[in-house]
Amino acid sequence: MRVYGVVLIGCGHIGEEHIQDIYYRDNIKIVATVDTDVERAKLFSRKFGAEFYGTDYKAFINLDEVDIVIIATYVNTHLSILKDCLKANKHVLCEKPIAKTLDEGKEFCELVKNSDSKVLIAHVLRHNETYLKVKELIDSNIIGKIKMIRMVQNHNTMDWNRYKKLLEDCTPIIDCGVHYIDITQWFNNSKIVEVSGHGLLLDDDAPGPYNYGFITMKLENGCYSSYEAGWSKNLASCNIKEFIGEKGRISLVLQACREANREEGDLIQIYLSETKEYISVNMRSKYKNMYGQIEALISMIEDDIPAFPTMDEVYDAFRIANAADYAIINNKTVIVADYN
Ligand SMILES: NC(=O)c1ccc[n+]([C@@H]2O[C@H](COP(=O)([O-])OP(=O)(O)OC[C@H]3O[C@@H](n4cnc5c(N)ncnc54)[C@H](O)[C@@H]3O)[C@@H](O)[C@H]2O)c1
Repeated sequence: MRVYGVVLIGCGHIGEEHIQDIYYRDNIKIVATVDTDVERAKLFSRKFGAEFYGTDYKAFINLDEVDIVIIATYVNTHLSILKDCLKANKHVLCEKPIAKTLDEGKEFCELVKNSDSKVLIAHVLRHNETYLKVKELIDSNIIGKIKMIRMVQNHNTMDWNRYKKLLEDCTPIIDCGVHYIDITQWFNNSKIVEVSGHGLLLDDDAPGPYNYGFITMKLENGCYSSYEAGWSKNLASCNIKEFIGEKGRISLVLQACREANREEGDLIQIYLSETKEYISVNMRSKYKNMYGQIEALISMIEDDIPAFPTMDEVYDAFRIANAADYAIINNKTVIVADYN
């Protein structure tokens, strides 16, 4: 078995989700943990058995024993770190969104496509078994053609400073929206053609144009999808994922949101309107399947299989999220094909 040397850049919230699910695996060796905050880099190296730690990733990414770099830093650093990793001929698992602006996003994709390194963007829901099951159910036509999708992902921000930092870089509609825009197109096998929405500054001290956004998306196949995302001291946390079809609906309740039978994992509930039947499916819950994600990157390296999602799908979700952000800020409906 080949053992992959890994450097983690960014020892924050998502960096910890990555490393805690991979550090003990037989095919992974953590070479270095890096953070601009040296104490965090040191803590992670101790906790997860890294050989080195430091504040400057350039000191580690060229090491021969390094094969994969995980980029788990703020959005505005992703492109420059990617460039250095590609120069060092390393494979990359990079957090979404890929970049801060659309032009930088384009550059990111071009660089990846023209490189021999393998790059996977962390659209982690593509590797979540519950979402894969919902996709399978939709494709089986159990609820017929999807007419509408309702998605809500609101966070009550106990750690306001962390969210303020994220808001400086990116609105929630771009930051978190890239996941759900991607899901909308993936589940429908159809493209979003039009977006509109509104946004509000719910907290006076929130950075950015808004910290709560609501968007609606119209797809080529006629489906409408809505997505709501807010990070606020005042909002209640809320998680709704509902797929409404011609013959019923599929609702997804994450384990953490279940009122009963929580020990049974995520709940997928299918309602069939013709027979008035409910079907329940319990899924082993692993919201952030980080090892599954790095295994997907390893398959790309070993078997030369395409990224999941592909770079084109990633860029498409990023472009549409930017179009939605533009629609909110300018109070306009945006035709996606015109937004480049
Ligand atoms: N895939 C997901 O589900 C998911 C969830 C949350 C966040 N994210 C993404 O992950 C990224 C980070 O978000 P977070 O919530 O972990 O933020 P965070 O603030 O918790 O952590 C970011 C860390 O990166 C460090 N850092 C910043 N610039 C650095 C640099 N140049 N070199 C080394 N370290 C650096 C910071 O000191 C901090 O510790 C964002 O792009 C965010 O959108 C993804």
